[in-house]
Amino acid sequence: MILSRETKAIILAAGKGTRMKSDLPKVLHKIFSKTLVERVINATKNVENLTEIFVIVGHQAELVDEHVIELGKELGIKIKTVLQQPQLGTGDAVNKAYSDLENFDGNVLVLCGDTPLLTTKTLSDLIKNHEENKQDLTVLSAIVDNPTNYGRIVRDDNCQVQRIVEEKDATPQIKGIDEINAGVYCLDWAKIKPAFSQLTTNNAQGEYYLTDIVSWSAKNGLNTNAFVLENNYEIFGINSKKHLAEATRILNHIKINQLLDDGVSIISPETTYVSPETTIQPDTIIYPNTYIDGANSLGMNNILGPNTFIKGNVTTEDNVSIVQSTVSYAIISKNVSIGPFAHIRDGVEVGENSRIGNFVEIKKSTIDTKTNVAHLSYIGDSELGKNVNIGAGTITANYNALTKEKSKTIIKDDVKIGSNSVLVAPVTIEQTANVAAGSVITKNVPEGALAITRSPQKLFEGYVKDKLNK
Ligand code: UD1
Ligand code: CA
Repeated sequence: MILSRETKAIILAAGKGTRMKSDLPKVLHKIFSKTLVERVINATKNVENLTEIFVIVGHQAELVDEHVIELGKELGIKIKTVLQQPQLGTGDAVNKAYSDLENFDGNVLVLCGDTPLLTTKTLSDLIKNHEENKQDLTVLSAIVDNPTNYGRIVRDDNCQVQRIVEEKDATPQIKGIDEINAGVYCLDWAKIKPAFSQLTTNNAQGEYYLTDIVSWSAKNGLNTNAFVLENNYEIFGINSKKHLAEATRILNHIKINQLLDDGVSIISPETTYVSPETTIQPDTIIYPNTYIDGANSLGMNNILGPNTFIKGNVTTEDNVSIVQSTVSYAIISKNVSIGPFAHIRDGVEVGENSRIGNFVEIKKSTIDTKTNVAHLSYIGDSELGKNVNIGAGTITANYNALTKEKSKTIIKDDVKIGSNSVLVAPVTIEQTANVAAGSVITKNVPEGALAITRSPQKLFEGYVKDKLNK
């Protein structure tokens, strides 16, 4: 197989996004905890021989800038932002990257920051089509039922692409065309770059239209073509909160169907949400009203839900049940049961055969194997050993509200903590030690010892009878 030519991408993200009615720039809104522009970058970065991404920023440039530079570092790809101020149209936006690309000889892929459903496959197919047919300009198009508001692809009698006409510049006849411009282009940069100095604002919107490079290319006898998209939903552009919800629904629908095909049972597909980045092994059952966000890796034979919220990067091994609970950034080993009504916060590891029961909150703690935290407890900044039993209502007091310091509680193997105890950190309970119910433990407890801090019980014999006889 021949490798594609070197490709650089330009992502347009300078526009305002007024219809989002939001303080946040449009491309920073999220679908399953990834921003719109992040989804576009993710699809782009996996294109073969892609070496650099330019993101055109303008409206609320600093916020978008910060976000995409951070993403570049995180993903290990070269991302450069280019400021477009003021925003004079899509043609002007691409032209802002001109000086960075002056001597570049390869493909330039142009796409928008607000079309988060585009896939790497489509972008790769576009480039492949462009190269195999030795084209100079290929625009991604789609045949749609309702072409309103899109630019229309105008072809001549031989079906050759001539130009793109925007809705606002279109005659009724052109408005009747159902092949639309998806807003994604593959350009042989060296051939097409002269077009950018010749764009004008001579159109209904008084903008520099990127679409005018198509007629320029055709008129100059360059190979100009359109590549028709397979799945129309991919060019779905986000302009409003309604669109955001719709895009989430589409991605979810695809994911749920894929999981069902892969052998995951989903009782209620219509109330189950699973992010595209999550993997789930067969024979796991997902009960209704479960929302799984982030990039999770979930094992076989899990029981998830009803009413479970998983977010961040959660890993579960096989035979884990998480019922009516919230779990984020945790690592759960096999045969663990969590919930109902547990809250597992960031940085928790639970070992095999352990059980986290109802109304238990755990944060930043490791729990070894065969340990039970069965009811109504708070475990924070703690290390729990093997075969530990934490009685109902146990609290690790990890936070000093005066100094604002957090301290650790260490509970070694085979320790039993009686109900309603407070373990004031920093504190260590050594192996096999016991803490009596209702104790407030402020000092370390040695191996095998019993610690008890409650006051002795007093008895008043015959008290009830005496009271009643008064
Ligand atoms: C554009 C196309 C249209 C196509 C449609 C597909 C033009 C002239 N028209 O129209 O043919 O059918 O996309 O969705 O290109 N942007 C900038 N700087 C600007 C203007 C826009 O960065 O000065 C960015 C926007 O943030 C957005 C993208 O470019 O991400 C597209 O701009 P938008 O105004 O939405 O283009 P459309 O009018 O939808
Ligand atoms: Ca516009």
